Amino acid sequence: MKKIGIIGAMAQEVERLKGRMEARRTISKASMEFLEGTLNGTEAVIVQSGIGKVNAAICAQILCDLFAVTHIINTGVAGSLKNEINIGDIVVSTDALHHDMDARVVGVKLGEVPQAGCLAFPADPHLQGLAVTCCQEIDTAHAIYQGRIVSGDQFISDRQDKAKIIENFQGFCVEMEGASIAQAAYLNHVPFVIIRAISDKADDSAEMDFPLFEKEAAARSAALVEHMLPLI
Ligand code: ADE
Repeated sequence: MKKIGIIGAMAQEVERLKGRMEARRTISKASMEFLEGTLNGTEAVIVQSGIGKVNAAICAQILCDLFAVTHIINTGVAGSLKNEINIGDIVVSTDALHHDMDARVVGVKLGEVPQAGCLAFPADPHLQGLAVTCCQEIDTAHAIYQGRIVSGDQFISDRQDKAKIIENFQGFCVEMEGASIAQAAYLNHVPFVIIRAISDKADDSAEMDFPLFEKEAAARSAALVEHMLPLI
């Protein structure tokens, strides 16, 4: 039977889903609360991982080990890396990589985890397709994009940092957890997708925009996840 692990880093990214879940039990592990039950008629586990790549990786591994999830969805907000991707728009991952990984000295590409066997961790095509279809059904006011999501332990709010990431990785948006969840899912052979709504443009305006748009963007991404669940 399918069981969907849903990870959001911040409270705003999971609170709506937690409120709508028919919860059976809560388990605490690694200072995270895993809420298990049914959401939109689908068996699921919802968890707030906390911010950053280490939290996200620990969280994804617990979902695999303790809850035996069959799929993982990461929901949340991100900074846009493309002029045409505006605040409120949705990005669905085709793949994800660490923009702050640099082990080129041992002969791998910039961003590549040595011995991982790939530069970017590929998202599940079925989950990607469902996310796009569902988004088109429930939200016609905002655009949806499919592309690479890049992650690092940095909030990007500087034009030059943003330009470097774009030049190096051709990402659609930047955030702080997705690639770790992708890597954990990849290592555990669990299909995953990252869904992010844009809260800022990852440049000098990000510091001002993020607090203004983060809540609404987080809710939009979560609504899409809820809609997708029964179709997985
Ligand atoms: N999450 C939302 N906006 C972000 C940004 N600009 N950088 C990193 N993570 C983010």
